[in-house]
Amino acid sequence: MLKDLISQYIEEIRSANIEKFEDRAAEVEKFRVRFLGRKGVMNELFEQFKTLPNDQKKEMGIALNELKNAAMAKVEEFKNFVEEKMDVEDSHDLTLTADFSQRGSRHVLSVTMNEIAEIFARIGFTIEESVEIEDDWHLFSALNFPPDHPARDMQDTFFVQKEEGKMDVALRTHTSSVQVRVMETHKPPIRIIAPGRVFRNEAISARAHCIFHQVEGLYVDKKVTFADLKQTLLYFAKEMFGQDTQIRLRPSYFPFTEPSAEMDVSCNICGGKGCNICKGTGWLEILGCGMVDPNVLDACGIDSKEYTGFAFGMGVERMAMLKYQIRDLRLYFENDLRFLHQFDNII
Ligand code: PHE
Repeated sequence: MLKDLISQYIEEIRSANIEKFEDRAAEVEKFRVRFLGRKGVMNELFEQFKTLPNDQKKEMGIALNELKNAAMAKVEEFKNFVEEKMDVEDSHDLTLTADFSQRGSRHVLSVTMNEIAEIFARIGFTIEESVEIEDDWHLFSALNFPPDHPARDMQDTFFVQKEEGKMDVALRTHTSSVQVRVMETHKPPIRIIAPGRVFRNEAISARAHCIFHQVEGLYVDKKVTFADLKQTLLYFAKEMFGQDTQIRLRPSYFPFTEPSAEMDVSCNICGGKGCNICKGTGWLEILGCGMVDPNVLDACGIDSKEYTGFAFGMGVERMAMLKYQIRDLRLYFENDLRFLHQFDNII
């Protein structure tokens, strides 16, 4: 009889399934108390065992031992199960290393723009920002583009409003409009750079985009000369592309500067020997510049007899292309992570 009882219990223990428990931790404890507790099955059976005739004791002893081992093994198994489950369900291991795999980084254009701003900040240029939708006055007229002058066609413009009898309004085609806004509202000395987005109605290709970024520079004071312009730009080129960099200025034309120039830097890839980036010339064109045309100063309310100034404007995409050897403008705007992650460490 005792033997049957033992095998029944062993069967019950072996088939016990924790998955069916509702409150697992509590039910495991209940299970343990039922079999192994002071008033549990084991002790109760042991009391019965004591009353057995001696010749049955050996066999029953072995059976009881088997039952006890089965109960202990099961409790152990249940406890491990509960612990593992808790690890998975509410683990807060504060010693784990944080996972930075999804961390973002600055865009290469932001990094380049910040670098340009820092270089000019070191020689006293402050930052000005202004609107991206501009009127005709700030975009063209104040900058000495006469009405119907072919220079107005130099840039293909996205017009927001172009109606007979109304002021033309357009997405700004260059940051030179910020020169006008600053000169209209500030008295010299003025020493600013204006970084920002510009828009031109161009077909998108590896070398052209309808949205890009410029950094404009403007310095107006008494006795500012072309030599100041040249020295400022030489300082900038060396800081940006390395101390061995050389510059050269070629005569050019902009309606708002006189004289005007375009600046080249010695190719930082071949060191001036000639390569496919500089198309064999050893020089890379990086910006337009010149002395602020007296007409522009006067249009903005600054007396051109008392003050002179210089201005320059550069393309940020082009700077980054030269510095990091990026060959296609479209990469900047596609947000392909494989491209973006290459610049994680350049800040
Ligand atoms: N605004 C000119 C451009 O977009 C660049 C420039 C700025 C030239 C300032 C001279 C002075 O091409």
